[in-house]
Amino acid sequence: MCGIAGYIGDKSASKILFEMLKRLEYRGYDSAGIACLSDDSVVVFKNKGTVDKVMKESGYEAITSKIGIAHTRWATHGEPSKENAHPHCDSKGEFIVAHNGIIENYRDLKAELMERGHRFESQTDTEVIPHLISELYVDSFEEAFREAVKRLRGSFAVVVLSAKEPDRILIARKDSPLIVGLGDSEKFIASDTPAVLPYTKRVLILDDFDYGIVTKDHVTIKDLQTGEEITKKVHEIEWDIKQAEKEGFTHFMLKEIFEESEAVKNAVKALPDIEKIAKKLKNYKRIYFLGCGTASHAGFVGKYLLERFSIPSELVLGSEFRYSTVNTIDKDCAIIAVSQSGETADTLASVKDARERGAYVVSIVNVVGSTLTRVSDDIIYTYSGPEIAVASTKAYVGQLTSITLLSLYLAKELQRISADYLDEIIDDIHSLPDKIGQILGNEEEVKGLAEKLFDKKIFFYIGRRLNYPTALEGALKIKEIAYVHAEAYPAGELKHGPLALLEEGVPVVAINPNDDLLEKMDSNIQEAKARNASIIVVGENGALKTPVIDPILSPILYIVPLHLLAYHIAVLRKLDPDKPRNLAKSVTVE
Ligand code: AGP
Repeated sequence: MCGIAGYIGDKSASKILFEMLKRLEYRGYDSAGIACLSDDSVVVFKNKGTVDKVMKESGYEAITSKIGIAHTRWATHGEPSKENAHPHCDSKGEFIVAHNGIIENYRDLKAELMERGHRFESQTDTEVIPHLISELYVDSFEEAFREAVKRLRGSFAVVVLSAKEPDRILIARKDSPLIVGLGDSEKFIASDTPAVLPYTKRVLILDDFDYGIVTKDHVTIKDLQTGEEITKKVHEIEWDIKQAEKEGFTHFMLKEIFEESEAVKNAVKALPDIEKIAKKLKNYKRIYFLGCGTASHAGFVGKYLLERFSIPSELVLGSEFRYSTVNTIDKDCAIIAVSQSGETADTLASVKDARERGAYVVSIVNVVGSTLTRVSDDIIYTYSGPEIAVASTKAYVGQLTSITLLSLYLAKELQRISADYLDEIIDDIHSLPDKIGQILGNEEEVKGLAEKLFDKKIFFYIGRRLNYPTALEGALKIKEIAYVHAEAYPAGELKHGPLALLEEGVPVVAINPNDDLLEKMDSNIQEAKARNASIIVVGENGALKTPVIDPILSPILYIVPLHLLAYHIAVLRKLDPDKPRNLAKSVTVE
């Protein structure tokens, strides 16, 4: 996620902003920038690259100013570049903005402002904010700011400077976090606590639709709709910096599992692109899902989903594609490449070969501007935010959401499902964040189960159809972070050999949605039980209990308890889930 910093007081704003940005680096970013007001002039510097590099380039030490804002950008709209880095200014350079979030109606606002003569320099959604403030400004910075923010749709934490009123920073929040650290005759604005902790433990936390006026001596918070002042409680931060970076979670992996509800919401934001791409996909005779590791499991779910709608497709592993499948690729093929990082060498090489043979390539990616986005015909971003832990969790949930939506819209384009059915399922998808929240609320039960299982030497994961990939992903997680051997099988395969491995107490995780194969799964579970295996059912009545959901959405919901189980087993085995041995976050070698 982007990181926002703001300072107003009696010290060197540029030096403090540099320190604050350094403590926001862990959030993941690709660019950085700073803006300071000194006397009646504005200094703005930004670029792609690290905080150290950009701040050195800016000559920040020579900037004499007591008020400023700064930003680390995690690209969502517009690739990482100097032009797309924040802060952004209006055409006259009178309003300077840094923002975290996604302005969903930026296209309409940008068109309206361009008709009124505004000229834009970036591809970002954020740049509409300073232009909108400038368009609405008459004689009050606060009024123009408030009216502009009221027109924004989507998510935002926003900080704004203006030389017109150089004694204040204006702030506002909806969905993206924003806090104000309270110092004596100085204030520290930030996306979250690590950036303010060295200066103060007293913070105000903005709520959705709050906006504020921050001077060095006062913070006034108001309701965006009514304009009325709101009294906010002052919070005392108890965390140290390391804890704060993980927002109180012990590991980034656990924090990212708890962001899986948001991952569904964020993936849905790409729906306009998904609908357009589904219309293109219907023209292709053969469809291949392509990916590695966890991303391949997401693609595998996609294969099963399309089959559910009588649309044939294949899953091909990135490491295999070029040595076999590629021989079948031609201009009648569509490749759906899946990758969190967009930098996996095997996936990239496969995509390049496929395109050389005339295939259409759409990539489902998390990292904006990554290499894969540059070698694809179209892109579906998952907007999951930076995934710091090596093991992929929230990005997988984002990928599954994107793939499920793409499969549904393709099925509709090919008249395999009705518009009514599509509407029903879309409603169900909107219910997923709450249902994931229910599962996360049962973390203690999952932890209790992990305490019974953490010393086991082997695990089996079984599932059928589109939950066979769920079994694969559950097994991969426990292998990669707990170093426990785990086998994943289509449940019907157990009796063809693997059953010989089952004996007293061997854990068998059975992914068991309430669908037309429930009885088949129950038979497989009985087969395992008859060998005295320890059965752990993931389902509406399982030990890993899941809320009721349409079975075609079960891969998205059912992976959540398996992520938690693997995480807690790793911790009980005294391992660091964030940095598993032998693994890299992005495998950029073949
Ligand atoms: C994720 O838990 C794994 N560490 C790994 O399998 C990963 O999914 C794979 O390397 C593909 O990465 P990508 O999604 O960035 O292409």
